[in-house]
Amino acid sequence: LPLGVLISGGGSNLQSLIDRMEAGVLDATIRTVISNNPTAKGLDRAKRHGIPTRVLPHQDYPDRREYDLALTRALQDAGVRAVALAGFMRLVGPDLLAAFPWRVLNIHPALLPSFPGLHAQEQGAAYGVRLAGCTVHFVDEKVDHGPVIIQAAVPALAEDTGETLGQRILRLEHRIYPQAVQWLAQGRLEVQGRQVVVRPNGH
Ligand code: GRF
Repeated sequence: LPLGVLISGGGSNLQSLIDRMEAGVLDATIRTVISNNPTAKGLDRAKRHGIPTRVLPHQDYPDRREYDLALTRALQDAGVRAVALAGFMRLVGPDLLAAFPWRVLNIHPALLPSFPGLHAQEQGAAYGVRLAGCTVHFVDEKVDHGPVIIQAAVPALAEDTGETLGQRILRLEHRIYPQAVQWLAQGRLEVQGRQVVVRPNGH
């Protein structure tokens, strides 16, 4: 599966995808890593593994639509057939989604529909939840909303801060994101309304 990965920061989820690909257990190739942020550490991770990178600063575009179109073109130029948002701190718009229908995935550090939006780990810790976790979902036109592909849970402790809870969640993100991308690569994901059916392998 030719994949594009969009990042804004550290890129540890990007790294988890690269590691599984290099281990031969994820049937995908990252054709491009695109960051809106020129100083994203994830860009260095990509370069270290010989993956082409592009920086598309959103400030360079007059409006959301133009930025969305620029992202879409960059992904199409790279020949990708699916897109993984991995800590990409911009909203993707309708033009990008139309170019890759049910082919854009996001990872969110909470058990959706709890705590959508920014700082979900802090939100969870502040709320005092006992279970936290992460969600990989298809991206639709609403923030952190599309059909859920996979979720995983971790305990949340009374003494947790957003930081400590976030680290525990992140370790789980690194396990479920490659799994979701592998299902997509195997053509096993079918969206039926809000439900995502994971079909058996080989069908
Ligand atoms: C992760 O917590 C992810 O769930 C959220 O942003 C963070 C990105 O971390 N959307 P990294 O850049 O992959 O290390």
